[in-house]
Amino acid sequence: MRDPRRVAILISGRGSNMRVLVEQAQHYEVVLIASNKPQAPGLAWAVEHGLPVWSHDSKGMDRESFDRTLSAELEKAGAGTIALAGFMRILSPWFVNEWQGRILNIHPSLLPKYRGLDTHARAIEAGDTVGGCSVHVVTEELDAGEVLGQAEVPILAGDTTASLEQRVLAAEHALYPSVLNEFVQR
Ligand code: GRF
Repeated sequence: MRDPRRVAILISGRGSNMRVLVEQAQHYEVVLIASNKPQAPGLAWAVEHGLPVWSHDSKGMDRESFDRTLSAELEKAGAGTIALAGFMRILSPWFVNEWQGRILNIHPSLLPKYRGLDTHARAIEAGDTVGGCSVHVVTEELDAGEVLGQAEVPILAGDTTASLEQRVLAAEHALYPSVLNEFVQR
């Protein structure tokens, strides 16, 4: 039986969401930080903070063989919940099925709007006056699983993708830990 309160966080980059998930863990324990990019800046922070870290370069590997390697590490760490935090690799159907209902992701838009990439540019381009972020359950279809929580921010006249990204990121940092603390208890 997997214990949902044992959380693994998957990153590919700077890991600012990872940091807040670590710092605001109340009802869960972070048992592994894993990355498909050995050079991900977030890994250095995790190591400095004494967290168990695993990374393996996914470049050139077929999707499922990387995912099977990753899954074995998650099992070894005794993970029961997986939080994607800027993990920039699409998970295989095999992996999503293996961890069905146990994988969360943070996405920088108010889903179902703007699945996929370039969310801020698309929101500005569309003339939206409200943007935000969503935490959702990961399913086989990209950014389409059950939405567990959302936070809204205004989109202001003169916003650039950078200024909007910054505002949304602050909202992500407030939203993700609270949703995860809740999720591991259900
Ligand atoms: C965030 O904007 C998140 O919504 C998206 O990727 C970005 C990751 O940023 N999925 P960070 O690595 O957590 O700083």
